Amino acid sequence: MLNLFGNEPTHTPPVPQAELSDEEVLVELTKIKKELADQVVVLGHHYQQDDVIRFADVTGDSLALAQEAAKLDKPYIMFCGVHFMAETADILAKPHQKVVLPDLRAGCSMADMAERSDIDECWSFLTSATTDKIVPITYINCAATLKAFVGDHDGAICTSSNAQKIIEWAFKTGQKLLFFPDQHLGRNTCYKMGLKLDEMVIYNPKLINGGLTAEQVQKAKVILWYGYCSVHQGFTLDHIHALRKNSPQTHILVHPECNFEVVQGADDAGSTSYIINQIKKMPAGSSIAVGTEINLVNRLAHLYPDKKIFSLSPYQCLCTTMYRVRPRWLLASFRAIKEDKPINIISVSEDIKSSSLKALQRMLDLSH
Ligand code: 13P
Ligand code: SF4
Repeated sequence: MLNLFGNEPTHTPPVPQAELSDEEVLVELTKIKKELADQVVVLGHHYQQDDVIRFADVTGDSLALAQEAAKLDKPYIMFCGVHFMAETADILAKPHQKVVLPDLRAGCSMADMAERSDIDECWSFLTSATTDKIVPITYINCAATLKAFVGDHDGAICTSSNAQKIIEWAFKTGQKLLFFPDQHLGRNTCYKMGLKLDEMVIYNPKLINGGLTAEQVQKAKVILWYGYCSVHQGFTLDHIHALRKNSPQTHILVHPECNFEVVQGADDAGSTSYIINQIKKMPAGSSIAVGTEINLVNRLAHLYPDKKIFSLSPYQCLCTTMYRVRPRWLLASFRAIKEDKPINIISVSEDIKSSSLKALQRMLDLSH
């Protein structure tokens, strides 16, 4: 049976080191990480759980980790994040380096919402519907094959930290934008830049021609793919209304993967790094409701006990796929390297790599 997103389900592998307690796993990880310090560098996305983040040599959002991956030299990059991030690291890695994703099931539901064949179909419809130059922009949260498509069609990749810069560049080189897979980051960023909502249309890959007519494509400036983050989708306008009523002094800060109404209703919106920096700057005693992944929100709450930091949603908005990277899986990957039989290697084929690299390099160049 196919899963919710129409893909083959992945099967749960046996839990590694089942004979060790959680505490013993952490003790052995501390030891083995020191032993392999010359060989392995650990990168951790901010949404990872604390017991993984404590082993990270570098923590960051998607942009910071991609920038870091391009600079590293150690033979193994242990990527504690999700699949598309590890692929990005492999595209940017040097030939002698290997990228390890401690649990291969750590995917991203948003990335799974755009397949290469659907993008190809969309592109042939759009380019037959208009003579305007369309620039494809993909959010970094996608498979390497989509990054390669963008590289081969003179587009660029963006993250939530640099989406505005990349879109500004795109409008200097073409008249229209195809933005995938996250409709919300595309819409929120373009609206902030002054585009009107009626200049943006949605392309739904499940419908014929995305549900669009050629005339709608001709009139639109931005074509947004019908994709979203199931975690950030959990924050609603009702949560904002409830807070405004019960705690009017609370500052509401959300990620641009949240939907348009939530971003408009919030006090401020920005990428994971932006959220962290804003919270850091806020005075002691501030009350801040945050619309992003719960591991980060809880970590910030512990880091700044003099501020009241909590999730905008009363429910746990957890990225369950990020959460698959657990200390046990990290330890299994370390042990395998020690035995010289590395596992969970993420390897992008050379042709996809060289096409994706064009789009990634453009992003890195534009991000300074
Ligand atoms: P950033 O790391 O760009 O903030 O994106 C958040 C996210 O959802 C990562 O998958
Ligand atoms: Fe994907 Fe959302 Fe998880 Fe980020 S938070 S990895 S976009 S599902």
